[in-house]
Amino acid sequence: MPQPNAVKCLVVDDEPRLRRVLVRLLEGEGFTCAEAGSGVEALAMMQQDPVPLVISDLRMPQMDGVTLLRELLAKWPDTAVLVVTAVAEVESAVACLQLGALDYVAKPFHLDEVRARVMQALDKRRLILENRMYHQQLEDRVQEQARRIEELSLERLQALVHFLEEKDTYLRGHSVRVANYALAIARRMSLSPATIDMIALGAELHDIVEHPVIGARVLAPLMRDAPAALAIVRSHHERLDGKGFPDGLKGSEIAIEVRVVTVADSFDAMTSVRPYRPALSVSKALQELEEGKSIQFDTEVVQGFLTAFPDAAALPVATPEVQPLHLPVAPLEARRG
Ligand SMILES: [Fe+2]
Repeated sequence: MPQPNAVKCLVVDDEPRLRRVLVRLLEGEGFTCAEAGSGVEALAMMQQDPVPLVISDLRMPQMDGVTLLRELLAKWPDTAVLVVTAVAEVESAVACLQLGALDYVAKPFHLDEVRARVMQALDKRRLILENRMYHQQLEDRVQEQARRIEELSLERLQALVHFLEEKDTYLRGHSVRVANYALAIARRMSLSPATIDMIALGAELHDIVEHPVIGARVLAPLMRDAPAALAIVRSHHERLDGKGFPDGLKGSEIAIEVRVVTVADSFDAMTSVRPYRPALSVSKALQELEEGKSIQFDTEVVQGFLTAFPDAAALPVATPEVQPLHLPVAPLEARRG
């Protein structure tokens, strides 16, 4: 049973005599009581000082108890409302229960009965609130766990990508560099933080396996909440003119997140040594980006790259020993948090 000592309650009845009877009873039980002579007055008082328990007569001029009940529960849904009815109004009382009143007391009432009903109603209210809080906490915990599992899986994947690249002289550091370039471009283009996050994630994982379709298939179950990052994995070899792969997407069919990573990826690929060719010089790679504008690459993204790295042309060319550019970007960790 709740300790009623501190519980505030509002008694609503147009008959002062009946109000007094209820108030006296409730005060005897330790409640603090306020009185209202009408529904309108009751609502005004709730507005000033909402209380957890309202006992209301059903038949009142101006605003009947049913209307008051509706208004009360619409604005203060956690209020325990008890309605007082004449025996002849039992049907209305049942309607009130359906609307959300916790109980009703029929007139003429016995004080013991009112006392018991009030306590029951408060008990019910407490259980409802506790139950709701429990469910909310449970839901929060489940969500937190799901997020953590996903995070761990992604962290492992990132570690796997770095591990695989580490073993490959030609790919060493590629994903981190691509992510860094892409982030710098995205920031320069003032893309939203959510978009930037997707770009960072997609860029880091974009080369998880050699073929982008397989990469996207492997990652799909883990990236349900990050469809834009998944699109990067699948589509970073698309071209604006529709001559890319795997889907031959054209122009605006290619999401901005993808277009950013495509430029970053192409630049890093061009300036890195590959088994079948030496690295291009930075100025040659920049020229390729320029020439690819609106054919292969998004013009604004290329522009973003050029302004993000104004001194790029002065950087040394990659060789198998010196891998390759170290463009001045913030460490990858800085994007989160
Ligand atoms: Fe790549």
